[in-house]
Amino acid sequence: MLGHHMILIGFMGAGKTRVGRELADRYQKELIDTDQRIEAIAGMSISRLFEVRGEPYFRMMETKVLEELLHLEAGQVIATGGGLPMREENRKLLHELGTVIYLQVDAGTILQRLQGDETRPLLQGEGAEEKIHALLSDREPIYRGIAHRIVKVDHRTPEEIADEIVQSMKKGEKT
Ligand code: S3P
Repeated sequence: MLGHHMILIGFMGAGKTRVGRELADRYQKELIDTDQRIEAIAGMSISRLFEVRGEPYFRMMETKVLEELLHLEAGQVIATGGGLPMREENRKLLHELGTVIYLQVDAGTILQRLQGDETRPLLQGEGAEEKIHALLSDREPIYRGIAHRIVKVDHRTPEEIADEIVQSMKKGEKT
């Protein structure tokens, strides 16, 4: 079996990092977060990186970070940026890395959670709601298409979501 990790994917505001932390605690691991790795390598925030180098550069870094994760010891918990699965090569890498868990969140919850957020460059400026709807409808089929598991997150705590994931991993459903 190729590098068997648990990888969380999903839209901005789905709670990938929070659920990831909860899962990592349970498995006594450090959470690996692709955005945080990129910020550490670049020495600046994602917002600043978008400003200074542009989105294509950030996307290239996402792929690089995924490639590096192939060398990790098995059994890690990995949280990803919301746009990372959009590149086909990243989707292949995600499948090589392990079980892909899609945290599915509704547009209403995203809006509520990200109101006033200044850290997501893709949602800045006028019309955040329209941007969320447009991005979500582009991305939803892609997230679904690569997920080994789909977990709904609306109105649920990170603890509840982590419980469901741990149970489904125990059942040992394929991948
Ligand atoms: C992005 C999501 C962000 C971050 C960057 C781009 C996206 O991560 O990677 O702002 O394209 O959806 P979160 O999903 O953790 O917010």
